[in-house]
Amino acid sequence: MMFIASSLVLAAILNLPTYVYSATVSATVAQTFLGVGGSGAWWPHDLFNFPESVRQNLSELLFSESGLAISSYRYNLGGGGVGVSNPVRAPETPYVSPGVYNFSADPEGTFFLQQASDFGVPGITMFVNSAPAPLTSNGFSCNGQFVNANGPAYATYLVDVAQHWREAGINISFVSAMNEPDNSFGPLPCGQEGMLVEANQRATLITSLWNELESRGLTSEIGILADESSSTSLATSEYSEWLPEVVDMVAHIVHHAYDFPTDAEYEAFINSANAVSGGKTTWMSEICCSLGSPDGSGKGYSGGFDPTIDNALIFVIGGEAHYDFWTLVSLGSDANEFTLVVSNSTTYSVIAMNPNTTESTISLTFPQDVCASTAFRTSATEDFSTVTPATGSGLTWSLPLSETSLTTYIFKREAC
Ligand SMILES: *[C@@H]1O[C@H](CO)[C@@H](O)[C@H](O)[C@H]1NC(C)=O
Ligand SMILES: *[C@@H]1O[C@H](CO)[C@@H](O)[C@H](O)[C@H]1NC(C)=O
Ligand SMILES: *[C@@H]1O[C@H](CO)[C@@H](O)[C@H](O)[C@H]1NC(C)=O
Ligand SMILES: *[C@@H]1O[C@H](CO)[C@@H](O)[C@H](O)[C@H]1NC(C)=O
Ligand SMILES: *[C@@H]1O[C@H](CO)[C@@H](O)[C@H](O)[C@H]1NC(C)=O
Repeated sequence: MMFIASSLVLAAILNLPTYVYSATVSATVAQTFLGVGGSGAWWPHDLFNFPESVRQNLSELLFSESGLAISSYRYNLGGGGVGVSNPVRAPETPYVSPGVYNFSADPEGTFFLQQASDFGVPGITMFVNSAPAPLTSNGFSCNGQFVNANGPAYATYLVDVAQHWREAGINISFVSAMNEPDNSFGPLPCGQEGMLVEANQRATLITSLWNELESRGLTSEIGILADESSSTSLATSEYSEWLPEVVDMVAHIVHHAYDFPTDAEYEAFINSANAVSGGKTTWMSEICCSLGSPDGSGKGYSGGFDPTIDNALIFVIGGEAHYDFWTLVSLGSDANEFTLVVSNSTTYSVIAMNPNTTESTISLTFPQDVCASTAFRTSATEDFSTVTPATGSGLTWSLPLSETSLTTYIFKREAC
């Protein structure tokens, strides 16, 4: 299952005196991107209170071609919030009793799910923090644990809900049944939903879900994402306990990054996941980096937006194919590389960051003749403002970068 098939080539930047930087775009693709997106949690709860026109505008900003045009959206299927004290983090569940559903539940979450679908977001995942309370070990939506014997009932519920939305035209193509299974988010009352799924229970849960999908002929329509461990270090230490047994049932190995790994740790994680799974793709599905410096230091969590854009291009670390931001509304960004080049069959897009308070220029060499077409810049005073295209000809072009800015230079892959 792939959504956007674009590819990306990294450019190595050399530091020369006089603030002119030379770089060469390799003819070899360094990383292929399937999707970039974010989670519909828990901002829909509050945003839904705004008038319809504001909700529409937000949806347009996130999902439309004139906005961010994200290619992945993670709908949070609620567990009913039983035992959760923060109502913002307690989405309603459609589950009433086995086989009985109220699909009017969680109007906040389902509104933005519908919007993502209406705007044509190609990759929609349904993720769950906790099974409905009646199916957990303690009868709450947090502080409890997955019950192996309830695996089939939980799977029936998940696939019923996914099928309901698919029949309504919303193409849920991935299900993640245990978001951060390493944490029950107790004690009661809890700050959010959560369900512990011990490492030695995860294969049981995945097998139940796979069997349910298979019984309905849906295994090629709906992929299973797992296990969404909170951190890369925990994921690595637990993979051997569950992954080999169910590796063929898992579409993509998905992890979070709340340990804020260094670049070296991130790469070690990717290598270890590849080794256990025989090279299955890994996706990063939660958190990015509202704190951090271009050299990779100082990474950490903060709720807000980092206007310094010092940390904007973290995607390149580890070369993962898919990247979801946790903080989708009130976006943060992170990075420790300055420039990347995204290409498809007709276009190169060069995304270049200048985190410094002085201007600089990149002198960029392409592997084929290109022609500059347009450029956009975001800075403290500009918001995707159209700016002068790059200058040059043939293979070699000059890309000015104003102070503390992020500029996108677009090139056609043909001579002018
Ligand atoms: C639904 O998504 C899957 C996987 O991304 C894709 O193969 C399929 O064509 C999509 N179906 C529709 C109707 O968009
Ligand atoms: C929605 O966006 C349109 C177009 O940008 C703008 O004219 C309108 O004022 C916005 N509405 C609200 C409620 O923000
Ligand atoms: C379904 O959920 C909606 C939204 O919470 C609620 O208003 C409605 O009463 C529920 N219907 C039933 C039959 O429980
Ligand atoms: C290539 O990328 C450009 C810029 O994003 C886009 O306008 C164009 O439609 C893409 N072409 C293909 C074939 O995907
Ligand atoms: C920013 O400054 C640092 C330190 O002088 C330098 O290494 C880096 O290349 C500069 N980046 C840009 C884009 O000017």
